[in-house]
Amino acid sequence: MHTNTHLNPVIIASENGRGGAIAAMELLRRGGSAIDAAELAARVTEDDPAEHSVGFSGLPNLLGEVELDASLMNGRSLETGAVAGVQNYANVISLARAVMDQLPHVLLVGQGAERLAAELGQQPADQRTLESLDRWRARFAEQGMDLSSMELRHLVTRLTMPLHLEDRVPHGTVNYLVRDTHGDLASAVSTSGLAWKYPGRVGDSPIIGAGNYCDNRYGAAACTGSGELAIRVSTARSLVLYMKMGMRLAEAGRECLAEIEQLKPRTGQYMNIVAMTPDGQHSGFSTVPNKHYLYFTGEMAEPALGERVTSG
Ligand code: GLY
Repeated sequence: MHTNTHLNPVIIASENGRGGAIAAMELLRRGGSAIDAAELAARVTEDDPAEHSVGFSGLPNLLGEVELDASLMNGRSLETGAVAGVQNYANVISLARAVMDQLPHVLLVGQGAERLAAELGQQPADQRTLESLDRWRARFAEQGMDLSSMELRHLVTRLTMPLHLEDRVPHGTVNYLVRDTHGDLASAVSTSGLAWKYPGRVGDSPIIGAGNYCDNRYGAAACTGSGELAIRVSTARSLVLYMKMGMRLAEAGRECLAEIEQLKPRTGQYMNIVAMTPDGQHSGFSTVPNKHYLYFTGEMAEPALGERVTSG
C-alpha cells in the first residue's frame, strides 16, 4: 500500500532519452506510476524516426530485417516482462508490459512475441524507413561487400567488429530509470540492437540482470552499448547488488566498469551504464570518455545532461 508521501519525481535516461523523459515527467507530475512513466518514455523514443537504435527506423540486422528487443521492470514487485527479436511490430516496450501483466512468463522471443502482439490487436507494420535502409546498405558498400560476399557468420564479424575505433558500429538503445512521487522505481530499456547483427542475435536489453534491473529497496541500473559485455558479467543486477551489499553508487558503478574492462572488450566495443538509488541520487558510467546521460527531476524545467564517470 502507498503512503501519502509526495517525493520529487526523478527520471534518468541515456542521452537519447530527452523526448521520452519530457512526456514521462508530465505523467509523474500528475501522479502517474513509475512503471507507466517508464513504458511511456520508451514508447516515445521507439516512435521517433530520427532515432536509429530504437524501435521504428532502428537499423536492421545483416539481412535487412529490423529485430527489436525490450524489457521493463517494476521495482516494487520485482515483476518484469521482456521481448526479443520482434519483427514488424511497433512499441515492443508495451509488448514487454503485456508479457509482465498478462502472461505467466517473463520473456517471449520472435514469433511467440509477434503472436502476442497480434492477439492484443496490434497491426503488423514495417519498422524500416528509407533512411535506415540507406544506412544499412551504405555499410556493405563502404566495406566493398554484399550479402553474397561470404557466409553470414564471417560477414557479421567484418561488419560489426571494426578494426579501427573511428569505424565504431552503432550500438544505441534507450534506458529509462524512473522514481515516482510515491518512491516507487521502474526501469525500461528498448533497442533495435547491434546494427548488422546476425539474425536472431539478442543483446543485453531484454535480459533482466544484464541490461536492466530495478529494485525499490536498493536502486536501478540499465545499460547501453555492446550488449555482449553486459550479458557476460550481469552488469545491471551486479550494480544494484553491490549497492545492496553496502557500496555507494559511485563505487558500485566503478566496480561494474572494472568487470567489463577485465573482459578485454574488442575494438569498438564499449559499455554505458545509468544508475539510481532509491532516494533519487543518480550517476552515469562508461568505459569510454566524453559520454553523457540525461537527468530530469521534478523541480527542473527541462532535462539536463551529466557527464558519465569513465574507466578510460
Ligand atoms: N545494448 C544493446 C544491444 O547490445 O543490443
